[in-house]
Amino acid sequence: MPGSAFRYVGVNDHDIDLFEGQYQVPQGISYNSWLILDEKVCLMDTVDRRKQGDFLSNVKAALDGRGIDYLVVSHVEPDHASSLQAVLDAWPGVTLVGNAKTFQLLENYFALGETSRLVVKEGDTLPLGEHTLTFVMAPMVHWPEVMLSYESSEQVLFSADAFGRFGAPDIAPSTEPEDWDDEARRYYLNIVGKYGPQVQAVLKKAEALSIREILPLHGPALTSSIPHALEMYRKWSAYEPECDGVFIAFASLHGNTELAAEHLADILDSKGCPEILLADLARDDMSEALACAYKYGKVVLCASTYNAGVMPFMEDFLHHLKAKNWQKRTVGLVENGSWAPMAAKTMRAELEGMKGITILEPVVTIKGALKTTDEPQLAALADALMQ
Ligand SMILES: Cc1cc2nc3c(=O)[nH]c(=O)nc-3n(C[C@H](O)[C@H](O)[C@H](O)COP(=O)(O)O)c2cc1C
Ligand SMILES: [Fe+2]
Ligand SMILES: [Fe+2]
Repeated sequence: MPGSAFRYVGVNDHDIDLFEGQYQVPQGISYNSWLILDEKVCLMDTVDRRKQGDFLSNVKAALDGRGIDYLVVSHVEPDHASSLQAVLDAWPGVTLVGNAKTFQLLENYFALGETSRLVVKEGDTLPLGEHTLTFVMAPMVHWPEVMLSYESSEQVLFSADAFGRFGAPDIAPSTEPEDWDDEARRYYLNIVGKYGPQVQAVLKKAEALSIREILPLHGPALTSSIPHALEMYRKWSAYEPECDGVFIAFASLHGNTELAAEHLADILDSKGCPEILLADLARDDMSEALACAYKYGKVVLCASTYNAGVMPFMEDFLHHLKAKNWQKRTVGLVENGSWAPMAAKTMRAELEGMKGITILEPVVTIKGALKTTDEPQLAALADALMQ
């Protein structure tokens, strides 16, 4: 936390079953919000209305009788803005600060009427006394209205959803790479993974700033780990793999394709593959499987044929990968079918709609049970993966 003018007034949510209606958050999630107490009092975002009561108590306690002059809305998404009306009701006279798009989107959620507003654009500043905010537009780093705020006297960047993490800081406070990366990666690419070029544009703007602390809207604040986090964001937004290993994702109706996937993993291991990870797309978490597809440079898709197509869990995985703009990877294919195998053809057609995907030869076809006669094909695919 920066100087004493900054007060954290956010909340942790350990009751939520699925974040954004789809993501498991076993360590919960936080909705972060801060007060800057200077000559002017500025509230940085609100929280999900799920935790509105706790949030209002936090704000009240931190204000210690003072009012609020400004409420900066970095992001209109309800996990951050759905307590806005409650703030306006409790502290009338607040001026909302946002860009033109912010107000356009806010009107979809609230009847703002005569509420006082300050419309800002790229580079505009808001003096608060000793502290000054400068606004940095970050369109599509997650929604079109997203903006970051840079406080120059303490060199603090309020980064909106960027640099956030699944996991509430009360039980997941560490920003060391071994603690931060996995849930930051799963968060990043599921939430903003589709928008790599927009994230790169913001990273360029961030390079021009001297940053001592990053305060994201979810998860812990970043200080000493800022260079590492920036490097991970550079990689993720460029769709560059982090690791040289092989990720094997399988979808198997009766277990034979699963056996083939496991056998391929054994062969790769015997050939000295540095890292091998398997995922069962029917049982393992889909958002985690997507994160692994981003982490690894080489991915093998193994699937049973299903009604002249591919098993639905694999189809679903491919649709998710496409929706997240997954690209620049080397892919191996293993199909299984008992009478007319079609899984590889179906998977290939999906992959051809993605950028920079190289499909390795051979494409392995298994008919029913895994047999010793399948061995040479799997060994040849393993060799191709080890090239
Ligand atoms: C509902 C259902 C539909 C299937 N459709 C096909 C198909 O269209 N063509 C085919 O060759 N095999 C089809 N199969 C056979 C599977 O692909 C078969 O389970 C596979 O050969 C063995 O791999 P597994 O044990 O991993 O499922 C189907 C199986 C089921 C249960
Ligand atoms: Fe968001
Ligand atoms: Fe968010």
